[in-house]
Amino acid sequence: MASSASPAPFTTEILPVVLSDIDFPREADVPCIQQSSVTFANLHKAADIITKHIAPVAFPTETVYGLGASALSSTAVRQIFAAKNRPSDNPLIVHISSVSQLQRVLHTKVPEVYEPLVQKFWPGPLTIILPLPDPIRNKDGTETPAVSPACTPGQTTFGVRMPSHPVARALIAITDTPIAAPSANASSRPSPTTAMHVFTDMAGRIPLILDGGPCNVGLESTVIDGTVSPPAVLRPGGVSIEDIRKYGGPLWKDVVTGKSEAGRDEKVRTPGMKYRHYSPKAKVVVFVGQGDGSGGQVAKYLRDLTGDLKIGVLPSRSFNLTSWDDEMKKKVSIVKELGKSGAEISRNLFAHLRDLDDAGVDLIIAEGVGEEDEGAAIMNRLRKAATELLDNGQHIVKK
Ligand code: TXA
Ligand code: MG
Repeated sequence: MASSASPAPFTTEILPVVLSDIDFPREADVPCIQQSSVTFANLHKAADIITKHIAPVAFPTETVYGLGASALSSTAVRQIFAAKNRPSDNPLIVHISSVSQLQRVLHTKVPEVYEPLVQKFWPGPLTIILPLPDPIRNKDGTETPAVSPACTPGQTTFGVRMPSHPVARALIAITDTPIAAPSANASSRPSPTTAMHVFTDMAGRIPLILDGGPCNVGLESTVIDGTVSPPAVLRPGGVSIEDIRKYGGPLWKDVVTGKSEAGRDEKVRTPGMKYRHYSPKAKVVVFVGQGDGSGGQVAKYLRDLTGDLKIGVLPSRSFNLTSWDDEMKKKVSIVKELGKSGAEISRNLFAHLRDLDDAGVDLIIAEGVGEEDEGAAIMNRLRKAATELLDNGQHIVKK
């Protein structure tokens, strides 16, 4: 069900924006932007493309780069699906610049169930699922959906997020339009965390990428659904499940996650989760629970490999390549450390997968992590990227 219309050919410009030119306090509805700056000019250029529904525009958020267009226009939203080649049944998150914009433009109040979490994590990497607002009644008696149905295919709900990145939030405020924005990668590729990643996937398909440097979080937002009982985490992301439980109040103490705990299928609840995701061109093998540092199963796996393969390794906490024997080391062409902390690994994961692809490796060996804190989101992305998984000695062939 991939979107079939091809996007108009564009010459894709990458224009810089400087975060320190924008001052957008949490409680404010509009930003203060240095008027004589390049940032001001480029933000307005992007806003103009969005408000005229010419094409989607890529912009930085604190999680990953987004590909944005007006969430109020089906024409504009369809252009996003076409540019990404995204399956048309996968709903988009609507991005807002303030809670007052949500009320004023979409006639939607944040339901009580989300209040403690929104207080704590907005603006930031948290997406909440809300019932769709009532349609707008026109003077001639007809009705227009408040959010474009192209944005919410087959859903009675929509996802909303207020990003904390000053460029993203300023762009939404300048257009005064809720912006539908998926990650700005071509469908099935790792999400982009730099403007160059977006360019690699989208050159010729969109007119403009705002370049605000690398994204700080590196993995997408956490998607939560408080419209169901018990409330659920539909996608782990930039806010940990532990923090949802800690700050959400009594209702969120029993929050359920994905398939295992919830006993229902995350693929059905979050349509996007059923598609191939985060996939570099290379084959990806993920090893989890390699606590001894010496490589354990990795050694055996490498020794058993035959043929002339270019291999890249992504170590995180316990792979200790200095202790690998020469036979193992000889088989590895490139090593890119993911980092030790959850924040570092999150920030580097998509970028490193893309770097190894660019280096032309045939096989990526990635070290998994425990599922606590940032680990849940990291492992969710690694599992989806993986062709094979070796989890505590158990070999799971995924594809
Ligand atoms: O951090 C992020 O969330 C980034 C940045 C750009 O904001 N956006 C992002 O969007 O990751 P996307 O489209 O790549 O992923 C959105 C996910 C998909 O898995 C989609 O199925 C799910 O959210 N989703 C959106 N609306 C939904 C709804 N009404 N009900 C259930 N899942 C929904
Ligand atoms: Mg995505």
